[in-house]
Amino acid sequence: MHPNLWREIWVVAFVALGALLLGLATDHPFLSAVVVFGGYIAVVLYRLHQLQRWLFARGGAEIPDAEGIWGDVFKEIRKLVRQAETREDRLAGMVERFQNAAAAMPDAVVIVSQNDEIEWANPASGLLLGITYPRDGGLRLGNLLRSPEFAGYLRSRVFSEPIELSSPANPRKTVLLQIIPFGASQKLIIGRDVTRLLLLEQMRRNFVANVSHELRTPITVLSGFLETLRAMKQPRAEELEKHLAVMHEQALRMQRLVDDLLTLSKLETTPPSRHDEPVDVPALLGSLKDTATLLSGERRHRITLEADTGLTLLGDPEELRSAFSNLINNAVQYTPPGGNIELRWQASADGAYFSVRDSGTGIAPEHIPRLTERFYRVDSARSRATGGTGLGLSIVKHVLVRHDAVLDIASEPGKGSTFSCRFPAARVVPR
Ligand SMILES: Nc1ncnc2c1ncn2[C@@H]1O[C@H](COP(=O)(O)OP(=O)(O)OP(=O)(O)O)[C@@H](O)[C@H]1O
Ligand SMILES: [Mg+2]
Repeated sequence: MHPNLWREIWVVAFVALGALLLGLATDHPFLSAVVVFGGYIAVVLYRLHQLQRWLFARGGAEIPDAEGIWGDVFKEIRKLVRQAETREDRLAGMVERFQNAAAAMPDAVVIVSQNDEIEWANPASGLLLGITYPRDGGLRLGNLLRSPEFAGYLRSRVFSEPIELSSPANPRKTVLLQIIPFGASQKLIIGRDVTRLLLLEQMRRNFVANVSHELRTPITVLSGFLETLRAMKQPRAEELEKHLAVMHEQALRMQRLVDDLLTLSKLETTPPSRHDEPVDVPALLGSLKDTATLLSGERRHRITLEADTGLTLLGDPEELRSAFSNLINNAVQYTPPGGNIELRWQASADGAYFSVRDSGTGIAPEHIPRLTERFYRVDSARSRATGGTGLGLSIVKHVLVRHDAVLDIASEPGKGSTFSCRFPAARVVPR
């Protein structure tokens, strides 16, 4: 038995003894018992009253202090209350941490009740699903996400697979949405922005279609000529020569395409070189100018070079040669005979730039933002006739990105174009 219970029994025994002695002394035993036990009961009732007052105050007041068995009871209750408070604090902390984490997620997270009413939503839900909490709290989910696909998904009650929806907040975005039932009959709705993923998938499909399309023409021509040659019993020498020349041209075309694709793939898959070397750009441009003159041939373009000798560039010489020669070749290809082509390598306020200016066909403004896309050509028929694959500017862009540089294109149809590569000061070594 607990010592304090013994103490209480002793107290009751003393009270009884006190009542007995008082009864003997006063000759009123009944009255004495009533008075002494009444006092004891009053103390017990007072303690009960203290406890009741504290219970009704719901933790607002301090739990009372007392001695003996009442002290024990109060102490025990105080301990239980403290434990409950600690547990509650820990739980509240956990809920808060969970809410903070869900709020910081880039995916939309919405919790709905059994009746599909919104109970909570994170900020990303506003951007992706147009659901703003607390504004939309209590509203039915179906009233906010009104697409028939979503209504069907919600009704089907089969949530093992997500669905794709156009975002109600931004029709240009696509959201992958999944409902996850949890608890008694609540639902968690997770929405993820998959616009970029779909775009990449579309690009991949376009790329495969483009490569196949580009290869089909030369292969068709080659196999056609081979067929013709086989059918000829005794081909004449000059006829044979003519056919072989066409076949060779088509084979070269395929080779150029594959070479360009390999260059692009290498630029995309290998990390940029960490050991850039000083590239003597004026010397490089000198040799590219000579090649361009050869390429121009009968067309006799006036090609000039103005280079700040002693202005070196830190980078990969092979990649830079490939980028610059693509720009110079384009100028030769898209400038009518006798036109002007100016090459320039100069320091600028924020680094240095290389520019190619031509007096060629020029490019309409709507095409300019798309020029660096793979296989993009302004005039496909014309470009293909000149042997272009439409990969040149895409290679240029990749090389420039690897050299922290940007490509500026200024052009006016009928007047000419200027393609400039702007390099940052960190990559330029002055004289
Ligand atoms: N200097 C220029 N003047 C006019 N149009 C140009 C010029 N440079 C590029 N273009 C246009 O941009 C398109 C894309 O150029 P890009 O160099 O990427 O491909 P391409 O020249 O057709 O083929 P290649 O892969 O052989 O270079 C060209 O088809 C052409 O229509
Ligand atoms: Mg080109």
